[in-house]
Amino acid sequence: MSIFDPVYIGIDEFGHPKRVPLIERNMLIGGEPGSGKSGLLNGVVAHAALSLDCRLCLLDGKRVELGQWRKCADVFVGPDIVEANKTLHRLQIMMDNRYAYLESCERRKIKPADVFTAYLVAIDEIAYYSATVGSKQQREEFSTRLRDLVARGRAVGIIVVAATQRPSSTIIPTDLRDLFAWRFAGRCTNDSSSDIVLGHGWAQKGWSANVISPNNPGAGLLIAESGSPELVKVAFLDDRTCAAIAAYAATLRATAAGMVTPLRRPRPRAA
Ligand SMILES: Nc1ncnc2c1ncn2[C@@H]1O[C@H](COP(=O)(O)OP(=O)(O)O)[C@@H](O)[C@H]1O
Ligand SMILES: [Mg+2]
Repeated sequence: MSIFDPVYIGIDEFGHPKRVPLIERNMLIGGEPGSGKSGLLNGVVAHAALSLDCRLCLLDGKRVELGQWRKCADVFVGPDIVEANKTLHRLQIMMDNRYAYLESCERRKIKPADVFTAYLVAIDEIAYYSATVGSKQQREEFSTRLRDLVARGRAVGIIVVAATQRPSSTIIPTDLRDLFAWRFAGRCTNDSSSDIVLGHGWAQKGWSANVISPNNPGAGLLIAESGSPELVKVAFLDDRTCAAIAAYAATLRATAAGMVTPLRRPRPRAA
């Protein structure tokens, strides 16, 4: 599996598989509590964890949503704004170094099997870091650094996938939202929240995530940079499945890093 492969996220309204290319793109996931945001985020992280050409950096204010992937991740940040800002800063430094490298070899973007690996930065609850914990200055620092990563990270393989419970313009300013190539709106409390995720004016054209039933978590509207929203139902990985995939991915990673000897089949004994 590779991060250059489109990521399977569920089915569309015709029952066809929906796959989204994530390399050189970012994804914003919005919706009210219980609308299935963490479910989608987990599906994306599962694909990335199984892709040995992608490293993981996870930020999760609740700790338990992405906690199962901890052993596959380079960095796991819990409810700690100082740690979150430090991590984003380190990612910015890495991003700048990668651009310096590309410049030196007269290239413009990451390619499959590149000398540097892609990086998935998964954030559950942007609002926790950008509007809840720490001082105003720390929260602003978080938003500024995140915006920079979303704006400049694409070409050097940094993919930001971020979920937010309260899609309001103070949490995701419009200019930041527009930087996300993929946007998914699970059920939203009103049309304006839906528009904040999908883009202004979609509710008026009949595309509002407010019409999704509260009893249908994982259903939502998905929109790409240029296109119309599409109704999708996200595939759901339950706790046991996530744990099993995470354990397998961790072994794959450890084996690839030479830390574990791969299991060998016993040789058949001579008769
Ligand atoms: N795609 C899905 N299909 C079926 N059930 C889902 C799906 N996504 C979420 N759920 C159910 O809804 C609950 C809440 O989902 P969650 O992803 O935690 O919501 P959110 O992060 O938006 O608060 C999950 O525990 C699960 O039982
Ligand atoms: Mg959640």
